[in-house]
Amino acid sequence: MAHELHEFISREEISNTVRRLGRELSLDYASTLKPNESLKVIVILKGAILFASDLIRELKVPVRLDMIRLASYGSGSESSGKIHMLKDLEQTPKDEHVLILDEIIDTGRTLSFLIQKLRSAGAKSVKTCTLLNKASRRQVIVNVDYIGKEIEDKFVVGYGLDFNEDYRNLPAIHYIKT
Ligand code: IMP
Ligand code: MG
Repeated sequence: MAHELHEFISREEISNTVRRLGRELSLDYASTLKPNESLKVIVILKGAILFASDLIRELKVPVRLDMIRLASYGSGSESSGKIHMLKDLEQTPKDEHVLILDEIIDTGRTLSFLIQKLRSAGAKSVKTCTLLNKASRRQVIVNVDYIGKEIEDKFVVGYGLDFNEDYRNLPAIHYIKT
């Protein structure tokens, strides 16, 4: 603990960004979904839980929720490069429209792994939404359909984001000096 933190994205900016994403998603899925269909939202645990809980309340279409726990960071701030699945989905999203929620896309490996898994499970469509995007860090090509904010290559914590499991509860997002 006890790192130097610098506030970078305020609570207010986060909540404006989440509302904007909610409006875009609601409009797009209102025309995609048929009358009897729901949107399957898949949350990548644990980092995306705060983002997901705020965002799904902004969605004006029927939503069903599932979660998967994936980790690429061994410990600290460097990616191990390998994706570990620590908890699988509860239902196979066969023939469903799926929206993946993550709080930050870095190398893109986590998202790429999950997109492939969902496609081979027979999802009707797979789209991706992230609060933050570090485009300059990308190592695999992956399509991100909805982006809250582009950020530069700095390690951030708060609003679900951790450093060695600390700081997830902070309401704003901070740069951390590691
Ligand atoms: P990727 O597979 O490299 O894109 O990894 C994405 C995951 O790494 C995110 O969902 C986060 O859990 C974690 N991550 C990436 N950058 C940061 C950061 O700046 N702070 C905290 N976690 C991060
Ligand atoms: Mg994550």
